[in-house]
Amino acid sequence: MTSLLVTNIGELTTHGPQGTVQHASLIIDEGRVAWVGAKSHQPPTDARLDVEGRAVVPGFVDSHAHLVFAGSRAVEFAARMAGEPYTGGGIRTTVAATRGATDQTLHDNVARLVAETQRQGTTTVEIKSGYGLTVEDEARSLRIAAQFSPETTYLGAHVVPDGTDPDAYVRLVCGEMLDAARPHAKWVDVFCERGAFDVDQARAVLAAGMQAGLGPRIHANQLTEGGGVQLAVELQAASADHCTHLSTKDVDALAGSQTVATLLPGAEFSTRSPYPDARALLDAGATVALATDCNPGSSYTTSMPFCIALAVREMRMTPAEALWSATTGGARALRRDDIGHLSVGARADLTVLDAPSFLHLAYRPGVPLVHTVLRNGEFTCTP
Ligand code: NIG
Ligand code: FE
Repeated sequence: MTSLLVTNIGELTTHGPQGTVQHASLIIDEGRVAWVGAKSHQPPTDARLDVEGRAVVPGFVDSHAHLVFAGSRAVEFAARMAGEPYTGGGIRTTVAATRGATDQTLHDNVARLVAETQRQGTTTVEIKSGYGLTVEDEARSLRIAAQFSPETTYLGAHVVPDGTDPDAYVRLVCGEMLDAARPHAKWVDVFCERGAFDVDQARAVLAAGMQAGLGPRIHANQLTEGGGVQLAVELQAASADHCTHLSTKDVDALAGSQTVATLLPGAEFSTRSPYPDARALLDAGATVALATDCNPGSSYTTSMPFCIALAVREMRMTPAEALWSATTGGARALRRDDIGHLSVGARADLTVLDAPSFLHLAYRPGVPLVHTVLRNGEFTCTP
């Protein structure tokens, strides 16, 4: 592989607020960032990409997405906008559609959604199972997910399927279903919530997954305060996701831990719910990530720029904080240090914006600002 010089970068953000430089260049060699500096000092290289003054940011790391499913819940969304509450009950509708779909349909849906994420500047996306809820359907969901991402998550404990005894289902999730899922999964997740799994059930599911070598992460405090965040911290989970309803104790626990608080403002947008208190988390010193939660029920968006705009407008994050959370923060939530930044040695995952500054990600909401995307130093999206 020859090296590629990305030059004439109007504004380059390598690693958040302190890592933004004007009039920069970057060299990619063997899929990695090999050099970063002022354009005036750029060394000679084989090939060049002139981005004509545009801004360059790290590729977005979407650390929470449910992409393996079939069917639509547009009608449920419309009913919600007319006043119906979101309870998570619609998960069962998607489970029925997913079980009835062929492997090819599920595969094609994931391919379409992953391509959609890439067109919006995402270079890493985590993919969960959770709409199969049988041994076979969870295993095939993860088998398909693994064709698209190494960041695959076993979410057999999404809800208790209709007509199943909850305790028997938890035993299945911790036993035979885990055995079938394990070869295709890196992470284990559970929806710890009233109407889904309580703290003790969630602890059992995560402990079994950890025992099998999977890393723990958790859907915590989405609809109610509950004990999900405390459990995440207790188990040193990589991430506690949603964090919509937090007590001061939860904020302090996250701030004093290695567990990332992953905020999913697309879900609050699409369920018309109050947004999480990002400022309390940031001001307490917690590590915050932003992700899409892309799924057909509570947040059917693949757009990290949209989530950044929501984080800035609705959760009072600064544009720099939001960009950091959508890149480095997401990488931390996946316990990765090779992605989510563009320092020398990082994987060459970068997004060229059709804008002079990353500020435009929030300043120009809803506008397709992604110009070019490189992943591993290879073009995945070109204008
Ligand atoms: O993260 N909360 C649980 N799971 C998804 C929603 C799933 C659905 O409604 O289909 C979430 O929001
Ligand atoms: Fe989710």
